[in-house]
Amino acid sequence: MDFAYRNGALCAEQVPLEEIAQRFGTPCFVYSRAAIERQYRAYAHALGDRKALVAYSVKANSNLAILALMTRLGAGFDIVSGGELARVLAAGGDPRRVLFSGIGKSEDEIEQALQAGILCLNVESEAELERVDAVATRIGKRAPIALRINPDIDAKTHPHIATGLRQSKFGVPHAEAERLYREAARRAHLEPVGIGCHIGSLLADPAPWIAAAERVVELADRIERGGIALRHIDVGGGIGIRYRDEPQRSIDEFVGGALRALGARRETLIVDPGRSIVGNAGALLTRVQYVKRGAARNFLVVDAAMNDLLRPALYDAWHEVRAVREPQAAAATAVYDVVGPICESADFLARDRALAARAGDLLAVMSAGAYGMSMSSNYNSRPRAAEVMVDGAGAHLVRRREAVPELFAGESIPAW
Ligand code: LLP
Repeated sequence: MDFAYRNGALCAEQVPLEEIAQRFGTPCFVYSRAAIERQYRAYAHALGDRKALVAYSVKANSNLAILALMTRLGAGFDIVSGGELARVLAAGGDPRRVLFSGIGKSEDEIEQALQAGILCLNVESEAELERVDAVATRIGKRAPIALRINPDIDAKTHPHIATGLRQSKFGVPHAEAERLYREAARRAHLEPVGIGCHIGSLLADPAPWIAAAERVVELADRIERGGIALRHIDVGGGIGIRYRDEPQRSIDEFVGGALRALGARRETLIVDPGRSIVGNAGALLTRVQYVKRGAARNFLVVDAAMNDLLRPALYDAWHEVRAVREPQAAAATAVYDVVGPICESADFLARDRALAARAGDLLAVMSAGAYGMSMSSNYNSRPRAAEVMVDGAGAHLVRRREAVPELFAGESIPAW
């Protein structure tokens, strides 16, 4: 497997994490190229020979090396900002395979996307439709658009990452879609090319995901009967991964359901997965600085923190913590909270873990490939971690550790 013990040492593919810590320091994100490729191929395989596009959701992990890998594999990209578009282009991604989602696109971002010639802007409100039309008219382009439909379906996930319910800020209400498509079709500078939805993230059960796909297909049918031909149907991302021992249905089951929903329709099927491509392909490598015995709890104070991996603090998310040197069966363990140096009680990476760690030991926080580095910050003026991509027996630095002067390079003191 991608992260496994070999001769007592936790390795990423063939490279001991200990070696990576020595070469690149900690904290450090480590990714397995083989794992990423395997996950991408699981989608490609599930889609078979259907006309389809896997549009990797850049927000999950936007490192250029990962985007370049996706490009080589033939992926497209789901982006949500001008910054993500710039990353995709810098990594050699094809703009004609880029979908731009998000409810708050600025005029500059819309212009940037139209100039780059992206596949489609996923429009999330009537006001946005107006803005896209205005920008396209001003620069003399025809904007390819899709509406993101809010299907009002409960994704049954953490409320912070559910997006498909009526009360959510995402998408246009199902009932308004037909009118908006008619409106778009009569504007010379708008070209409706697709339709889409995305009901939330970390889905364990395919049923709501497939139900949303069915709703969108049914709507596409009505729109086409109204005389507007669409080229693609985007059923979103959101397929979960196993962090612990949760039941998780396979990519095949999700994609198979979408294929059934589309049946013999001729549109291209688009999926936009993020987490399920990179989540389990990454670990956050960190070193224990202190073992601290508190009055009520024991702590392992490590050198990674919530600024590196926010998920535990933000969602109470569970990430497995493994000792980099394989624990001996007889080793005495204690129960620890694994915490970072940040001055917040929410700064923890794991709670109540039985570990046999000592100061100086290395730990790996698993399943940190998605929404780890991409949600990191400089809180407490902590430089961002390094990122390393392992490829067989090789380890490549794909982002160097940030240097402290970079943290305030853009700041200035006024001449009061
Ligand atoms: N498409 C759209 C329109 C999205 O908004 C998202 C994620 C995706 C695709 C990809 O979803 P995925 O396949 O990765 O589940 N920070 C949270 C997750 C936020 C997801 C936001 N949207 C976390 O760490 O759990």
